[in-house]
Amino acid sequence: MLGIDFGTTNSSVARADEQGEVQLVQFPAADALVAAYRSLLYLEHTKTKTRSQLHSWSGPEGIERYLAAEPKGRLIQSLKSYLSSRTLTGTEVFGRRQLLEDLIARILGDLRKHAESYFGCPVHAATVGRPVHFVGAESGVDDVFALDRLRDAFSRAGFKHVEFEFEPVAAAYHYASTLTREELVLIGDFGGGTSDFSLLKLRPHALHYEERTELLATSGVGLAGDAFDARLVRHLVSPHLGAGTLEQSGDKTLVAVPSWVYVRLEHWHHLSFLRTRAVSEMLRAARIRAFEPEKIAALSDLIEADLGYQLHQAVQRTKISLSQQDQAEFVFQDHGFNLRASVTRSEFESWIQPDLAAIEQVIAEVMTNSGVNDFAVDRVFLTGGSSLVPAVRRIFERRFGQDRITAGNEFTSVASGLALRARSSHHALIA
Ligand SMILES: Nc1ncnc2c1ncn2[C@@H]1O[C@H](COP(=O)(O)OP(=O)(O)OP(=O)(O)O)[C@@H](O)[C@H]1O
Ligand SMILES: [Mg+2]
Repeated sequence: MLGIDFGTTNSSVARADEQGEVQLVQFPAADALVAAYRSLLYLEHTKTKTRSQLHSWSGPEGIERYLAAEPKGRLIQSLKSYLSSRTLTGTEVFGRRQLLEDLIARILGDLRKHAESYFGCPVHAATVGRPVHFVGAESGVDDVFALDRLRDAFSRAGFKHVEFEFEPVAAAYHYASTLTREELVLIGDFGGGTSDFSLLKLRPHALHYEERTELLATSGVGLAGDAFDARLVRHLVSPHLGAGTLEQSGDKTLVAVPSWVYVRLEHWHHLSFLRTRAVSEMLRAARIRAFEPEKIAALSDLIEADLGYQLHQAVQRTKISLSQQDQAEFVFQDHGFNLRASVTRSEFESWIQPDLAAIEQVIAEVMTNSGVNDFAVDRVFLTGGSSLVPAVRRIFERRFGQDRITAGNEFTSVASGLALRARSSHHALIA
């Protein structure tokens, strides 16, 4: 009766007992125990005369190991966002091809071991969350493809039995555990990769388990916290790293570095693709011709030193500050970098406006597909880290009014709900 939320940014694991009490696995981190385990992977390799071996660490351990290492190995973030991509079967790590499924399995295997030691029993089965639509999926076929790969990754990590549930439905199981009466609830789960919605009728006291949750509609979009980060990189960071910098070419002025380089820089899961000889030679040549060569030199340094994690942290700090105050500083000081910029919340909100509009449209779709009138919704429950962005919350305030909105357990509601879901399907089975 284990629930596993393998998130784009954070993962968590929970177990529910017979009484419905949920226990979240607490993972050891630098100076505390945490329930949210960073879904990142850090790789190093050792080579002797006879064999070369790949070592990996994930979560807080991966971060510590990466920060302490010199020279540094390879750190990969937001792996879940690759799942729908047919062109990305894997990536080259220290000259060896690694399948995406194997890389994800390394994180899942670590989660399994932590769960085993925390609960003191072997773990081979779990109810696992899935987004309604995976990042980058353009059709139902893409979603099936992504889900099959995720299933395969679980099996490579030693899981023998895995059942999937939509992440926003899992969050509803968590929310339902706080209810004393029947409610019609709209759930919004805003993560790192995806924003997912479900509209459900929750009947906490129904005699039969199957009647306690009735799913009326669900939908989602592959846009969330990482997309907001991308906007911050585009507007705040890239201009310092040569985006738009010109060069003289004959009698024409052209941009020195093509824009696709900055598109990669904006996506945490694509950043490591810039560490190739071709890109490094292209930047070296651009530096010679550009009017502001120091900016392009800074971009080369960032890529060479593989500072994607540090940049991500700096962008996240700015974004989180903007959830709390009207204005924030972006500060990136690392490996000789000293980038600073100010940003107001209203600037940030104007940058993420297209993402907010896309999210709003999906919410409208869920309501239309369900055939339920907005007035009939008793409560809106918002969860996931990106639900803390005030502009995200405002979408719901405008549509449903402040009084009907509730929020909470941003980083653990999905795992808790998955554990409760696992328990209820077990009960339904034996009833
Ligand atoms: N206070 C905050 N303000 C704005 N964004 C935040 C805040 N705290 C966390 N985030 C963002 O929330 C996201 C992570 O949320 P969460 O852990 O719910 O995602 P996830 O479950 O890993 O992703 P997904 O569900 O899409 O697979 C990150 O993009 C992070 O930057
Ligand atoms: Mg999530």
